[in-house]
Amino acid sequence: MQSNTYYRSHTCGELRMSDAGVEVTLSGWVHRSRDLGGMTFVDLRDRHGITQLVFNMESNADLCMAARKLGREFVIQAIGKVAERSNKNAQLPTGDVEILVESFTILNASELPPFTMDDETDGGEELRMRYRYLDLRRPQMQQRLMLRANMLKAVREYLDNEGFVEIETPNLIKSTPEGARDFLVPSRLQPGLFYALPQSPQILKQLLMVSGMDRYYQIAKCFRDEDLRGDRQPEFTQIDCEMSFVRQEDVWNMFEGMTKHVFKKVKNIELPDFKRLPYREAIKYYGSDKPDLRFDCKINDLNDVVAGSEFGVFNNIINTNGLIAGINAKGCSEYSRKQIDELTEFVKAPQRGAGGLIYIKFGQDGSIKSSMDKFFTPERLQEIGNACGAGKGDLVLIVADKEKKTRKVLGELRLEMAKRENWIDKNAWSVFWVVDMPLFEPDEETGEPIFAHHPFCATHPDDVAYMDSDPLRVRAQSYDLVMNGNEILSGSIRIHNKEQQEKVFKILGFSEEEKERRFGFMVNAFKYGAPPHGGCAFGFDRWVMLMAGGETIRDVIPFPKNNNGRDMMMDAPGEVDNDQLKIVGVQLL
Ligand code: AMO
Repeated sequence: MQSNTYYRSHTCGELRMSDAGVEVTLSGWVHRSRDLGGMTFVDLRDRHGITQLVFNMESNADLCMAARKLGREFVIQAIGKVAERSNKNAQLPTGDVEILVESFTILNASELPPFTMDDETDGGEELRMRYRYLDLRRPQMQQRLMLRANMLKAVREYLDNEGFVEIETPNLIKSTPEGARDFLVPSRLQPGLFYALPQSPQILKQLLMVSGMDRYYQIAKCFRDEDLRGDRQPEFTQIDCEMSFVRQEDVWNMFEGMTKHVFKKVKNIELPDFKRLPYREAIKYYGSDKPDLRFDCKINDLNDVVAGSEFGVFNNIINTNGLIAGINAKGCSEYSRKQIDELTEFVKAPQRGAGGLIYIKFGQDGSIKSSMDKFFTPERLQEIGNACGAGKGDLVLIVADKEKKTRKVLGELRLEMAKRENWIDKNAWSVFWVVDMPLFEPDEETGEPIFAHHPFCATHPDDVAYMDSDPLRVRAQSYDLVMNGNEILSGSIRIHNKEQQEKVFKILGFSEEEKERRFGFMVNAFKYGAPPHGGCAFGFDRWVMLMAGGETIRDVIPFPKNNNGRDMMMDAPGEVDNDQLKIVGVQLL
C-alpha cells in the first residue's frame, strides 16, 4: 500500500466536477458501504461532508476484497482519482463525483457503533448521551456546534467593535444571589469552608464597573443547582455584559444591535426593530412574561361583560375580585366533545389547576352553542364573543379563577391551541423586549417581598414613592429579551448608590449580619465612587437552540447533563474515596 507524507489533500466535502482527473488523498470515517457484485462503494465521511469511494473488482480484485472488509466507522485514508459519477446524487454537494480508489490504509478499526451516525439515527437519547462522542459525529450535531461557534464569533466581533473588553472572572467564589441553590466546593487549605460556583458573574461584573473598566463582557459558565428541564442545565453559558454611564435605552440599543448583527451574520436575516412590551401588558394579554408573539390570540377580560347573570360560578369570582377571561380560538367552532374534553383536562391538570373550561361555539351557520347557555341568552353569548373578537366559525374558551391563575392558564392554553392548530409559522421570528419588570415578587409561601431578578436592580423612577408603602407595586429598571416565547436575556440598570442598595436589602429582610456576610465586600466597594451602570446576560444555549431549531438546550451543548443532572458519558456525579473527603474535612451522613 502506498504511504504518504500527509493524511489528506482535500476534505470529504470539497471535491466537485472541476476536480475530475485530479489525484487526491482523503481521510475520514466509513459511513456506509455497498457491494454491487463487481463494484464496492464506500461513503467516506468527515465534518465537511461525504464523498463516494469506488472499488472495482475488475481493475483490482485484491483491493476490492479488502474494501469489502471495512466496517462502519473504520478510519481510513484513501488515494485515488476524482471521476464523474454516472449515477449522480443531487442530495450531496459532492454528489457529481466519486474517487476511483488506487490504494487505501486503515488508520484505525472500529467496533460496531451502538447507533448510526445519521441525522435520523436509530439511537435513543439515553444511548446517544452515553456515547456523546459518537452522537457528535452526526452531521446535524456537528452543524449545531459550528453554528454555536459562528454565533460566538459574531458576538465577539460586535462587542469588540463597540469597545467591550473581554474579562474573565473566577469560578471559585462566594455565593451569588440569582435565586437558585449554589454548587459548593470544599476547601482543602481551609477545611470546613466552602467556595460556591458562580450562578452568574453578577457581582464581579459590577465591581469591574467600580474599577472603571467601562464596557465588559465574558462568555461565562454559570452553575445553578435547580430542577432541570428542556431549557435549563445545571451548567450553562451566558454572554454576560455590563456598561457604565448608561440608561436602559442605551443597553437596549446596544444589545438589540448585537442580536441583529448575529442574525445577519449567521442566518442572513434582517430582524425588524424590537418592540418594547411592558411586563404588565405581557401578563394581561398573554398570561406570560415571555409570550410567543409569532401568533396573536390575546386574553380578553370579561368580568364586566358577564356581570349580572344567574351563573353562580361567575358571580362568585366577581365578588371575590377574581377574573373571568377568554381567548378566541379562531376557526375552531367545529371542535368535538372529545376535543373540548381534552382542553378541559389540559386546564385542570395539577400544574395548572383551573376548576374547568367554558366554551362558546360560534357556528358558520350563525348558531351559538355553549356550556353555559342555561345562564346566558344567545344575545349575551354574542356579546361575550364580540368582547373576544370572535366571529362565525370561532370558538371562545373561558376560564374563571383568581386573576393570576386565570391569566396563567389562558396563557398556556393559547400556546396549546397554537400547537394543535399549527398557528406558528416555523420560519417566523418574534424578538422583543419585555420592560418595566417588577422589582419584588411575593414569596409563594409567606407573601413577603423577595427579589424578582436579583437585589441589585434599580427602581423605576416613577415608583420610588411606593418603596416603603407598597413594595410589590414597584417596577424595576429591568428587562428581558424574548425570542419565540423563550426568555433569552435578562438585565437591568443597577443600583450604584450605597443608601439605595441598603434600602433594598432592608425590604428583602436581610439582617445586618447576613448582609455583611453575603455582600459586605460589595457594599464596601460602593463607598468608593461606583459609576451609574447596567447590563444584561444572554442565555446563550437557549439562543443557539432557537437558531439551530433544536428541541432542548441539550441539543446544542456538546456534553450536556440529563434531567437528573447526570453526565451519562462520564457517569458523573460519582463517588469519591474516603481519603479525598478527609482531606477536605467532609464527612458523609
Ligand atoms: P438570569 O438569571 O435571568 O440573569 O440569567 C440570564 C439568562 O440566562 C439564561 N438562563 C439559563 N439557561 C440555561 N440553564 C439555566 N439553568 C439558566 N438560567 C438562566 C436565561 C436567562 O435569561 N446576572 C443576571 C443578568 C444581569 O442582570 O445582567 C442573570 O444571571 O436565558
